[in-house]
Amino acid sequence: MRQIIIAGNWKMNKNASETQEFCAELAQYLKTHSVKDVLPLIAPVFPFLAKAADLLAKLPAAVAAQDVSAYESGAYTGEVSATQLGSIGLNYCIIGHSERRQYHHETDALVRSKLLQLREQDIIPIVCLGETLEQREAGETEKVVVTQLEGCFRDIELKSGSEIVIAYEPVWAIGTGRTATSLQAQEVHAIIRNWLKQRYGVEISGIISILYGGSVKPDNIAGLLRQPDIDGGLIGGASLKIADFCQMIDTAVDVAREKRPTP
Ligand code: 13P
Repeated sequence: MRQIIIAGNWKMNKNASETQEFCAELAQYLKTHSVKDVLPLIAPVFPFLAKAADLLAKLPAAVAAQDVSAYESGAYTGEVSATQLGSIGLNYCIIGHSERRQYHHETDALVRSKLLQLREQDIIPIVCLGETLEQREAGETEKVVVTQLEGCFRDIELKSGSEIVIAYEPVWAIGTGRTATSLQAQEVHAIIRNWLKQRYGVEISGIISILYGGSVKPDNIAGLLRQPDIDGGLIGGASLKIADFCQMIDTAVDVAREKRPTP
């Protein structure tokens, strides 16, 4: 059974004290609740990553960066390298988010370069992909997603499958309140799983976590997580309130119990 990841992508939200307050409350929650088979993860902005990692150290939670440079080091003003992220003990990093693709013109080839940088540091990339509304309406969802997979994973070999995470985020569902239905999401997750199966074999594809993102909230997360190929959520807006975030973790713990094979 795959662990369920409840990932909060905070985007450009929360200042230093808000980050600290959220992490302290999350730490308190984790000390008093069991999160068996669930990994809560938060992705604050760069300046607060080290503080967040400190506050959640030794707890069953992870901290991720929202992006990384495609270069190793040197004269790249404004960039942060995978080595630098590794040096504060981060284990995860989001790459290829649709907002990076849209506003910073990131391509699959660039996402692949970032993935290679992260692998050098044993940081698990959360590789985001997904179609726009026009592409969905033109019936191109599968073609778009497969093209993104082929580009991001070109010549990338995997050892076990646990070294990467994929996030399917249909662009039309991000921040719009318009969630893909559980079945619409599952349909695309199955396409992704199938591609992974062809590319990496049954065993590795069965280990890779595929998260869904796009207007996930406390009241729709259970239906999404119950789908066989949905292994968690990459959550924007609804991850910013500690009460909502903890409620989604609670739901994930319940669904993980349902999904656990009976001995
Ligand atoms: P929302 O949950 O706000 O729709 O954002 C989704 C997202 O982009 C997470 O990466």
